[in-house]
Amino acid sequence: MAGRGFLVFKSEREIDAEDFLRASCWWGGRELHSTHGVHPATPGGNRHIFRLSNDQRHGIPGVGPQWHNDGSFVPETFSHSGYHIVRPAEKGGGTHFAHQAGAYDALPVELKESWSRLYSVNSSSGVVHPLVHEHPISGCKCIWLHLGMTGAVIEKAPDGEGIRLLAAEELRQLCRWYNAVLNAGFNHGYAIAFEYRRNDCVFIDNLAVAHRAAPEAHASAQEQGLRIMHRSTVRGTHRFAPDGGLPIQLDIHGPNPAGAGVWQGGGVGFRWDEAVPMQN
Ligand SMILES: [Fe+2]
Repeated sequence: MAGRGFLVFKSEREIDAEDFLRASCWWGGRELHSTHGVHPATPGGNRHIFRLSNDQRHGIPGVGPQWHNDGSFVPETFSHSGYHIVRPAEKGGGTHFAHQAGAYDALPVELKESWSRLYSVNSSSGVVHPLVHEHPISGCKCIWLHLGMTGAVIEKAPDGEGIRLLAAEELRQLCRWYNAVLNAGFNHGYAIAFEYRRNDCVFIDNLAVAHRAAPEAHASAQEQGLRIMHRSTVRGTHRFAPDGGLPIQLDIHGPNPAGAGVWQGGGVGFRWDEAVPMQN
C-alpha cells in the first residue's frame, strides 16, 4: 500500500456498508476518523459513511472536483481513504488518482528546491502542512496540496532565515503548476482516470495519492445515470507537520500575520482559477 498507494478490491457479491468500513480499518491508524456530514440516505445513519451522489436525494453532490487529499484540515490528516461504489453511473464518472511521489519526481530541479520551502495553510482550520514531505513508510518524497481548501502558502527563505506569504499571483501560479503536474501524470504513468465497476472498493494512501472527482461524476443523474458512492477516512498515524519551527496551526481567520500576501480563511480559500468548480 505505501509503495503503490492505491489498491482496488473487486467483488461479485454485494458489499455492505459494514464490510466496507471493516476493510477500511485494515490500513494506517486502523480506526475510522470521520469529520463529515451524514446524508439522510446513509444506511443506518452510520456517521462513518460519507455518502456522495450526483442526485442530492441519494447523497451529497458536487464534492471534490479539484486535486486534493482528504482531511487537510486535520494536523495528522487521514492516513487512508476508502471509496466504495454502491451504484456506478451507466455512462461512467469515476475518480482521478495521482501518485504524489511520481509527481515530485517529475518536477524540474528548481521546483523541487523551491517547493521544499513551501507550507500550505488550510482555509478552514489554519492547519499547516509541508508542500513536500517524505512519506513515513516508503521514504519517497511526495508533493501535497489541497486545490480547494488552501487559504495561504508560507515560503521559507532559501537561507532558512525568515518567512513570507505568497502573493496572489505567485499562489495562483503555484496552484496552476501543481494542477498541471498532477494532470501530466495521465501521460507519464503516475495518474489514472479510474472507472468503477459495481461493488469495487478502492483504498488509497492519503499521504501518497491525490484524487479528484472526474467531471462526468458530477454530471446529472438524468444525463449520466445515478451514481452513489460511500467514502471512509482512517485515522492518521504520523505527525504531518512543518519542519523548522513553523507552528502546526495558525489563525487563518485572524488578521494577516505578515501584513502582505494571500491570507484567506473560510470556504474554499484562495480561488486560483475563477472558471473551475471548487467544493469540499
Ligand atoms: Fe476527497
